[in-house]
Amino acid sequence: MRYLMLISLSLLAPEGECDLLRDSVHVTSAAARPNNELWCYKCLAETPENRCADLRHNNSALIHKCHNDRRICMVKRFSYTTSTENSTTALKMWALERNCTKHCEPGCIVIGERTKLYACTSCCTTSLCNYGSGADMWSIDLACAFLVIILSL
Ligand SMILES: *[C@@H]1O[C@H](CO)[C@@H](O)[C@H](O)[C@H]1NC(C)=O
Ligand SMILES: *[C@@H]1O[C@H](CO)[C@@H](O)[C@H](O)[C@H]1NC(C)=O
Ligand SMILES: *[C@@H]1O[C@H](CO)[C@@H](O)[C@H](O)[C@H]1NC(C)=O
Repeated sequence: MRYLMLISLSLLAPEGECDLLRDSVHVTSAAARPNNELWCYKCLAETPENRCADLRHNNSALIHKCHNDRRICMVKRFSYTTSTENSTTALKMWALERNCTKHCEPGCIVIGERTKLYACTSCCTTSLCNYGSGADMWSIDLACAFLVIILSL
């Protein structure tokens, strides 16, 4: 069930790039770019206590070399709230993924009414930068702006 929702949310949130990037990304041909030296955390967590979700402990086993055009590190966090007419529960995480990726669209997709599902992605381009919880919204726009600056150099 968890996996099914993960897949359907992934389809709803395709790994496109952030809007501002759309033009700059495609003008650079793969052949013209330097070797991929990027390393990212790569793992899937299904509970907040999982060491993929909480990277404070020894996490060297989760470090992964990125290959080919996968030049962005990302964190995607899936969480939900449930509401009654008078109250809403705190945001609860039910899955978190870290990985190397080719396209990364920062931001959140929200679906549902009483039970709201959130799929939030943040993106970054330096090695092992995807250590965050994926929950800090303000950094998403910052990461996007940062990417634009990097890619337009
Ligand atoms: C990372 O991305 C690759 C390629 O898209 C995918 O096959 C793999 O399952 C992903 N890893 C995790 C932990 O989600
Ligand atoms: C961390 O884990 C790796 C492999 O999982 C192990 O080789 C290494 O010795 C560990 N480091 C520490 C400081 O525990
Ligand atoms: C919600 O609040 C209204 C008005 O304060 C109250 O009458 C109602 O019983 C509450 N509903 C629930 C499910 O707590």
